[in-house]
Amino acid sequence: MIRLEEDAYRGYSLCKMQESDFVFVKSFLDNQRSMLDIIEFFYPYKDEELLAVLTSGCFWGLFDGAKLIATFAIDFDEEYAITLANLINSFYDIGIERVYESSGLMVAEEYRGQGIAKYLLKLACDEAKKRRIAICGVVHTQNVASMSSFFSMGFEMRATWRLSDGYDFIYLLKRFDKAEFDDEGINFQNVLQSKCNCDKIKDVIRVTNTHTKEQNALLFDGYVGVGCQDTEIYFKKKEQNHYEQESTHRCNRIKG
Ligand SMILES: CC(C)(COP(=O)(O)OP(=O)(O)OC[C@H]1O[C@@H](n2cnc3c(N)ncnc32)[C@H](O)[C@@H]1OP(=O)(O)O)[C@@H](O)C(=O)NCCC(=O)NCCS
Repeated sequence: MIRLEEDAYRGYSLCKMQESDFVFVKSFLDNQRSMLDIIEFFYPYKDEELLAVLTSGCFWGLFDGAKLIATFAIDFDEEYAITLANLINSFYDIGIERVYESSGLMVAEEYRGQGIAKYLLKLACDEAKKRRIAICGVVHTQNVASMSSFFSMGFEMRATWRLSDGYDFIYLLKRFDKAEFDDEGINFQNVLQSKCNCDKIKDVIRVTNTHTKEQNALLFDGYVGVGCQDTEIYFKKKEQNHYEQESTHRCNRIKG
């Protein structure tokens, strides 16, 4: 591992994990996953996937002394980035070409609720901005803690995927592939709690997190998920920015 910063967050140190850390990282993830009430909340890497992210992706590890307490990564697999972009465009065509998966978000049980997930998500956003790429998290629809973390960093729900009955996942996108997207995305949780932002929440449609059909209908209609609370996801009609409008027109011209 490469030590990046000694006192990176609340006295914890930040490292970039590497291929040689495979066994160490795998045992941290397996151990933490085995303690989850719902283990499906953390979709495990296949060995070759973990190795690939450690080797060619960006894999962060946060340490309390010598103890690994949290992980997060961006996978730079180009082929998968195209597959993810196609999936997102198939719900509502925004003409995006590549979307890189962010994965491996795990905070050790006794360290949760200290803002560590948000710190790691901020790191990933900074890296994505530097590289001018879009990133996407794949989250179980009942994993409110994880969804809240992504939504609170301005990620937008853009697609769904059903693994099997009762195991639905959502795709949460954050774009940095063009400079005009840098300031997009609001912290909806904050908006909901604030009395003076009623105009921002008046057009919001709430859907129970297990109602995939209704969610899909909204996504196909140009709505995006912007927040969640307990068992509900909040959708808002996306106002297309200039780049997306052009891109949609371009796609419609090609189709038509
Ligand atoms: C999901 C997880 C990474 C969150 O980590 P964390 O460090 O505790 O999260 P943070 O303290 O940074 O909180 C981030 C946001 O989520 C919210 N949140 C955190 N835990 C929550 C919970 N149990 N219920 C509801 N919201 C929660 C926080 O309030 C915060 O939102 P805000 O900014 O709007 O206040 C952690 O619970 C975890 O590791 N879970 C097990 C593995 C997992 O599910 N990984 C995700 C795979 S996609």
